Amino acid sequence: MNKLSPSILAADFANLGEAIRQVDASRAEMIHIDVMDGQFVPNISLGFPVISSIRPYTSKVFDVHLMVQDPGRYISQTAKAGADIISVHAEACTHLQRDLQSIHNAGCKASVALNPATPLSVLDWVMDDVDMILIMTVNPGFGGQAFIPQLKEKIRMCRAMIEKSGRDIDLEIDGGVKTSNTAELVRAGANVIVVGSAIFTGDIIRNVDTFMQLMD
Ligand code: DX5
Ligand code: ZN
Repeated sequence: MNKLSPSILAADFANLGEAIRQVDASRAEMIHIDVMDGQFVPNISLGFPVISSIRPYTSKVFDVHLMVQDPGRYISQTAKAGADIISVHAEACTHLQRDLQSIHNAGCKASVALNPATPLSVLDWVMDDVDMILIMTVNPGFGGQAFIPQLKEKIRMCRAMIEKSGRDIDLEIDGGVKTSNTAELVRAGANVIVVGSAIFTGDIIRNVDTFMQLMD
C-alpha cells in the first residue's frame, strides 16, 4: 500500500500545533519527524519534548527519522515520546542489528535509513529485522534540496531486494520529492513517500490530496 508521510521539518515551528492539526485532518497516513543532532548531520532540528508535545494532537503514525550518531542511545526515549516507526542510519550504528532489535523491544517498527552513497549491501544481513527501509534521496540535514537523479536506480534495486526477501517491507524515500517526480518514483518501487517543503508551502490539506492522487 502507498502511504504519504509529510515531514514537519518544513512546517512553521511557531505554529506547529496548527500544522499538526492540518496534517491530522488530511488523508496522509503518517507524520515524518526529523531528529538531527548536529553531529551525524550538519544541522540541529527538534527532539523528544517536541515529539511528546505533539503526540496528543493526532493518532497518525509517527515516523521518526533519527539523524543522530549512535542512535541506540536514544531508542527508548524515542519510543516513549510517541514514535511508531523508528529509522536509524546504518552509517551511524556500530551494532545495527542490535539497534533494530532494541527498536522492536521498545514496541516500535524498525527501519534502516541509508545515505545516498551507502550501498544496499549493508542491508543483506538485517532483512529479517526491518519493517521499512528508508532510501535518502538527498544528503540528510536539510529540507528543500534537489532529488539526486541516480538514486532512482537504487530505489528499483531495493524494491527487487525486498521482493527477493519475500517479506512485507515498506520502502520509504526522503528528500526532493515533488509533484513532478512522485509518480515515477512510485513506479520505481517506493511505497512510502516523505514530502516536506512541497506540502508545507501553501494549503497543506490540498497539497496532501495532490500527492495522494499522484501515488494512486
Ligand atoms: C532531510 C530530511 C527530510 C526533509 C525532506 O534531511 O530527512 O525529511 O524534511 O524535505 P524536502 O521534501 O523538502 O526535500
Ligand atoms: Zn527525514
